[in-house]
Amino acid sequence: MHEEHTVTHPLGPAAGPAKPVAYRELKTQLTGLFAYERDGLANAANTAAALYHSLPDLNWAGFYFLRADELVLGPFQGKVACVRIALGSGVCGTAAERREAVLVADVHAFPGHIACDANSRSEIVIPLVQGGRLLGVLDLDSPSLARFDDEDRMGLGAIVELLLESSDLSRFAGVR
Ligand code: SME
Repeated sequence: MHEEHTVTHPLGPAAGPAKPVAYRELKTQLTGLFAYERDGLANAANTAAALYHSLPDLNWAGFYFLRADELVLGPFQGKVACVRIALGSGVCGTAAERREAVLVADVHAFPGHIACDANSRSEIVIPLVQGGRLLGVLDLDSPSLARFDDEDRMGLGAIVELLLESSDLSRFAGVR
């Protein structure tokens, strides 16, 4: 068996080369789930559940969608969260405004971080951009410092791309 498959926790912080492999497997699982379904709400909900239950060391995983110029809470797994986030506010609003992924190794050191769950220590936010239009963000939180790295950014970026190409999100995600 290839060395990449021998790690006990393939998506853990110390997993090294196994992370991309595990993200590819997650993408394959989601590809199957989306094969006969384009409903954006259903596919976003299953994406949040698959991420939360596949990736170790998370305390929140879910979506905010752009509606009337602010981010509004979408499908997620984890504790109840703040419902509305202005563009430019917090980690989510920053990623949405910049339209680029934001990785925060220590949320306490991020000016303006919005603390929905006091257990969160690190965070990654990936924007949902389709044809130049901002639709929302994917947000993952961890109770561990520096949980996310460039491999997570790449793996989650690929999953967001799959969701966008497989789903009709326009019914509830705004245009900007
Ligand atoms: N921490 C985020 C808010 C969303 S919750 O983490 C679910 C932020 O600063 O934008």
